[in-house]
Amino acid sequence: MHINLKAEPVSNEVYARVSRAAESIRAKTGHAPTLATVLVGVDPASQVYVKRKGEMAAKLGMGHRDYKFEANISQDLLMDTVRKLNADPEVDGILVQRPLPKHLDESKVFDLIDPTKDVDCFSPHNVGLLVQGRCKLLPCTPAGIMEIIRHYKIEITGKNALVVGRSDIVGKPMAMLLLHSHATVTTAHSKTRDLAACVAEADIIVAAIGRVKFMTGNLPWKKSAVVIDVGINRNEASKLCGDVDFDAVAPKVAAITPVPGGVGPMTIAMLMVNTVRAALMRKNIMDEV
Ligand code: GUN
Repeated sequence: MHINLKAEPVSNEVYARVSRAAESIRAKTGHAPTLATVLVGVDPASQVYVKRKGEMAAKLGMGHRDYKFEANISQDLLMDTVRKLNADPEVDGILVQRPLPKHLDESKVFDLIDPTKDVDCFSPHNVGLLVQGRCKLLPCTPAGIMEIIRHYKIEITGKNALVVGRSDIVGKPMAMLLLHSHATVTTAHSKTRDLAACVAEADIIVAAIGRVKFMTGNLPWKKSAVVIDVGINRNEASKLCGDVDFDAVAPKVAAITPVPGGVGPMTIAMLMVNTVRAALMRKNIMDEV
């Protein structure tokens, strides 16, 4: 029988920490930690994500500034908005929702975000610190996965960890966090010759490819394997499903995250953690969250 690594008990724990910390910051400084979200265009998924982020901030006693722009916004106006948010002492975290429309240079926008307000950990400065194990604002999805692993007391030290996918937002930072926790880390990707050989050796597998049921029941899973599924895909019937074929893989492994209800809810929880951390850092308060 496998363990179902549900997010709910983990995110509840994180939210309790965040709301305590937010209240303490408000009591000490008179100002609640505040997240600014920037949404460009009308992509339905992005609209839903940004709305949820704002609602969650409000629910936890945090401030939320909501900036929405038409899809045809100029690079200059978007850059000016980021400059204003950088300079605004009441804004602790800045999140520009991706993807941006094609005519905009995404890197220029993300490079401009003040690293102390970069709650996504996308800026080159913070990615550098992350590689050195010194970054206080960890990338939200990989940090959420580490919270799941910690909550369910999964040992990492000395284990073989396999990250499938090498995106800047999940795969690469995930490999770093696992390395810092003393795993032996392999990153597999679309050009990897023998994925099955990697899976056969893996104790912890993080699937972050973005393709429906890419990891099948036919792979040589270890019975003791812990499987973390980052995929949020829609199948032909528009049903949410992960990168791992849950029904086929779950009976073969020791533990697996469900989709939905696994990694997904942790991303937003860690965004709230980062907003509080950014506020603590900028106000020079030594508390932890
Ligand atoms: N689009 C999808 N996921 C994310 C995220 O974690 N951060 C931002 N800024 N945009 C996203």
